[in-house]
This record gives sequence, structure tokens and C-alpha cells, in this order.
Amino acid sequence: MCGIVGYVGKNQAMETLVNSLKKLEYRGYDSAGVSVLNGNITTYKTEGSIDKLSAILPSEMDGKIGIAHTRWATHGAPSTTNAHPHESGDFSVVHNGIIENYLEIREKLEQNGYEFKSETDTEVIVHLINFNYSNNSDSSFYDAVRESLQELEGSYAVAILCKEYPDTLIAARKDSPLVLGLGDSEVFVSSDVTAFLDHTKNVVFVEDGEIVSIDSSGVNYTNFDGQNIQKEITTIDWDVEAAEKAGYEHFMLKEIHEQVSAIQDTFSGKIFELEGKIKLDELNLDPKDITEIERIEIIACGTSWNAGLLAKYLFEKIAGVHTDVSTSSEFRYGDPVMRNDVLTIAITQSGETADTLAAIRSTNQYGCNSIAITNVVGSTITRETENVLYTRAGPEIGVAATKTFTSQLLTLYLLAIYFGRIRYQISAEDSRELLEAIKRLPGQIQKVLEQRNQIKECAVEYSDVADFFFIGRYLNYPIALEGALKLKEISYIHAEGYAAGELKHGPIALLTKDTPVVAIATHGNTYEKILSNIKEVKARSAKVIAVADEDDREIRKYVDTVLKIPKTHELLSPILSAVVLQLLAYYVALERGCAIDKPRNLAKSVTVE
Ligand code: G6P
Repeated sequence: MCGIVGYVGKNQAMETLVNSLKKLEYRGYDSAGVSVLNGNITTYKTEGSIDKLSAILPSEMDGKIGIAHTRWATHGAPSTTNAHPHESGDFSVVHNGIIENYLEIREKLEQNGYEFKSETDTEVIVHLINFNYSNNSDSSFYDAVRESLQELEGSYAVAILCKEYPDTLIAARKDSPLVLGLGDSEVFVSSDVTAFLDHTKNVVFVEDGEIVSIDSSGVNYTNFDGQNIQKEITTIDWDVEAAEKAGYEHFMLKEIHEQVSAIQDTFSGKIFELEGKIKLDELNLDPKDITEIERIEIIACGTSWNAGLLAKYLFEKIAGVHTDVSTSSEFRYGDPVMRNDVLTIAITQSGETADTLAAIRSTNQYGCNSIAITNVVGSTITRETENVLYTRAGPEIGVAATKTFTSQLLTLYLLAIYFGRIRYQISAEDSRELLEAIKRLPGQIQKVLEQRNQIKECAVEYSDVADFFFIGRYLNYPIALEGALKLKEISYIHAEGYAAGELKHGPIALLTKDTPVVAIATHGNTYEKILSNIKEVKARSAKVIAVADEDDREIRKYVDTVLKIPKTHELLSPILSAVVLQLLAYYVALERGCAIDKPRNLAKSVTVE
């Protein structure tokens, strides 16, 4: 997730763009840049924050048209070279999204003599436009953009300048947000209305497959086929703070909703469901390394550790590899039995957790292969492991992890299937079935989100209890732990997650009519067993809230409330159940008036031991 801005108007572009960019910093902040068109295109960019960009800009720069970018790296580490805008010939481009077929296009362009400076997927866009423009003398700036967009696969919101068109800015969108702000003799293009709310509240939402051409005569809208279209102007009444949260009351709620696109972005370009194949180009492990893995050791903290617990079941079931999961703080002071045929996997959304970094460093002496799964490109963990798999959840501002958790889970599913295919532990047929189901997840998460009112009602009903239990079996056990963790983190209610079969060995003594139990009871090989556990709970007069499949009619007989998830492959239901439990925790905390985005005593990234 990055932020883009474009400006065409009466004021000096550089100053206007930098002010707007600052409002988008929540979308990414690892590097930034700006291009201003005034006869020539002048570009400044740097690794680091927008303040760092401001520091290198001249005090004045004449030019009333320009584009700017704040980056949250996906392809290529945060660096000045990888920062946007990217340039080729007379063109300059900023981009938010992921170009899936960039390697293919890059190869074609390199064969045609184009030299790439950065490691980004974005650079192909600008060279491609230059290529199409230069190769056809009849081609206008607009034609070259339109032709190039037809070749791009993936997601993008782009804003483009061309030196030969001194008053024109072209922007386009597919699967990444783009909105225009229509001010008084000025037009803004942005990823988000926040960027220009102090100038205008009149906006036009650009839809997928639309191109916008802005020049001194006005704004022209077309579709990708080149046909003119009419757009409606909407007047919005948000203030700047509400806009940063896109109208959501909290970043956490926004981030819960962003899971639809975070999951999509995380698998995008990796899944080839027709062949039952996964491509993980980032991994430097050859098939022999993967076949010879004797054991996997997962190291993580907090929510990432819960993701690791689920991954243990996945690696054992899908890839046939014995897997252990350790909390980083225990691992680093223990006496692990390690050999060079153990694969270590560090899971850390921030990539900066001190205990996880120390634990992974302590494994260096054994000569093991290692993989980091992280959400932050260029974070410290990426320098401590040989292999890095990035989740593509975008920046997470709320302290309680939500979209980074489900993106970690998805990455672990992909890795397990990838290993499983190479180790001949999962057939092409079974893999295809799973991958098809993964592709349906974004739509199914959307369906879960649409049930938020029902989840809220349930949350309100139980918001004043002192204790909560969460139970699950097998793949649902780590989700029970995560559900309890989310609730205690943001609502301060005491909550325990248990393997449902363990209740009878102690915790059942605590159950009364005042201790609600959330039972994750989706279909699978332990369904009958968890029904028995639910009956044990009910016999102690505790209320039961079940998370169950939408077509489960039986469960209603035994529980007080059912929160439903759409029917999916039985291995994948934990991802959908996790979203239900995030919403439950959120609405309980909301009802209790808690500081949801910044819970007391907690930090987003714990860089001390
Ligand atoms: C902190 C955060 C948690 C997170 C944990 C591990 O405690 O509040 O949400 O799960 O650190 O963070 P990591 O960045 O390593 O995943």
C-alpha cells in the first residue's frame, strides 16, 4: 500500500504535493518522491519519510503540475533508487499496487534496449509507456498510456506526466484506490480524499478500468476502450482525521475491513490454480533443500506465534514435515536440538521484534536454512535470514494485529502447499482444490464483514463480563488463542484460549453462568468432538457462542448464539473464523469505551527484550 498524489492547478505544485503527501503518510513511509513539470520534468526522491524529502527540496520550484508518492515497499527494499516517481525518456510515473506480470514485461523491454535502474515492478510501467509512445509516431500521450495499461496484469493506481504535454496529467485505476478532488481552478488526483480535503470536498471516485486525462481545459474521463464516460461529482463531509481512517471509527476496524484486499494482494501472482501450482520466486531453496528438510522450527511472538501454531498443523498435514513452534523469548534461552537439516521460519509482522531477531541469530551457528515471513520490506529480520516471504497487508497502524495475522496465515498455507507439492505429499488435484478455495477467500471475508451488525449485537450482550473462554480443536485451537489474545489486548477482559479437549483438565472448574465460552466449531475431523465439549460447557450453565459454518443447522440446538462463516475448504475456515473473532473483540472494546488503536501498556513493535 502506497500513497499517490497528482496536481494540476493554479498553485505551485511542489509545495501543494508535499502538503498533500503528508496526509497520506499513514499509507506508507519508507521513501518518498515528487516530479514537477515545467518545460522539463524535475524529480526529487529519497529513502525515508516525507520530512526527509522536504529537506532535500529546493525552497522554490516553479511549476503548476506534478505527481508525488509515499512508498510502502513491496518489490525492492526501501531506497532512493526504488522510490517513486520512476522515469523513462519524457515520462514520469507514480504507482500504488502490484504489477503481477512485471518480470515478463521487463524481459521484453530489456530486449528492446531499456535499462532498469530499480528493483520495482513499477519501473516497467514507465518504460512500457515510453516504448509504446516511441514506437508509434501517431501515438499520443493518452494512446500510449491506454495501450500500455492493456498489457499490465495486477493492481494499479497510476499518475503520469509527459514532458511533451506540458499541461497534462493522466491517471488510471485497476483494483487500487483513486479519487479526484475538483477545487477552484485546480484538480487533485489521490489514493485517498485525505490528501486534498483542505482544498475541496468535491470528489469524483475513479472506478476500475477508467482513465482520467486532466489539462488546462478540464477533466476528461474514458474507459480502457477509449470511450468517453460521464462521472458524478460527490460532495463529502468528512474531516481530515475521519478521512485518514476512510470514515471508520478506528484504524483497527479499517484494517479488519482491508483484509479483503490484503489477502488478495498476498496471493496475487503466486497462485496458478489450474495447474495446482504455487510460484514463490522469492525463495532461494532448491527442490533438494526442500525434500531434505527433516524438521521445521518456527520462531515468533504474540499473534505471529499463534500463526506459527496453525502452521505446524499445515506443514505436518500438507507437507509431511515435523514442525515445532517456539516463542522467541523461550527459544533463545533454551537448548534447542538443531541440525543443518532443520529449516527455521521466523514470523514477525514488524520484522523488528527483539526476541525474534535474537532467537533467529542464535540459530546461525547450526547452518540451517531460514525463512522470514514479514510485512515490512527492508526490516531488520530480512537481513538476518536467507529467504524472505513478504505478506502484502499494507501498513498496520492499530496496535492489535489483524490484517497482518490473516496475511501471515495465508502465506503459511501457500508455503505448506509449495513444500507439499515438491515433497509429493499433496496431489495436484488436492492442491488445485485448495488454491481455488483460497481464491474465493476475499469474497468470503467480505461476507463475514457484512455480518458485523450481528457480531456487534453479540459483543454488546457480553461486554460486561469479567472472564471469557475461547475453545477450539486442531486448526481452530490457534484461532481460539488468537481470539482470546485479541479480546484481552483491546477490551482488557480476562480471556483464555484453550484446546477444547483440555478444558476438562482444569479450566472447567472456572465455568459458571457468567463465563461465556466462544467455541470455534467449524466442520472438519474434530467437529463431533467439539460438539461434546460444548455440551460439557453447557452442563456447567455457561453461555456458548459458536463460530460455525453457515450451513450448520445442528449446532443451533446446543448453543446460545451462532456467528456464521461462509462454507470453505475445511483447512481454510480458520482465516474466516479469525475475522469473526477480530470483530467480536473490536465491538466488545468499543462498547466498553476502550482506546482500541492504542491499548494500554502495549506497543506495535517491541524492540526491547
Ligand atoms: C507486539 C504486538 C503484537 C505482535 C507482537 C509480535 O506485542 O503488540 O500485536 O503480535 O508484538 O510482533 P511481530 O512484529 O514480531 O509480529
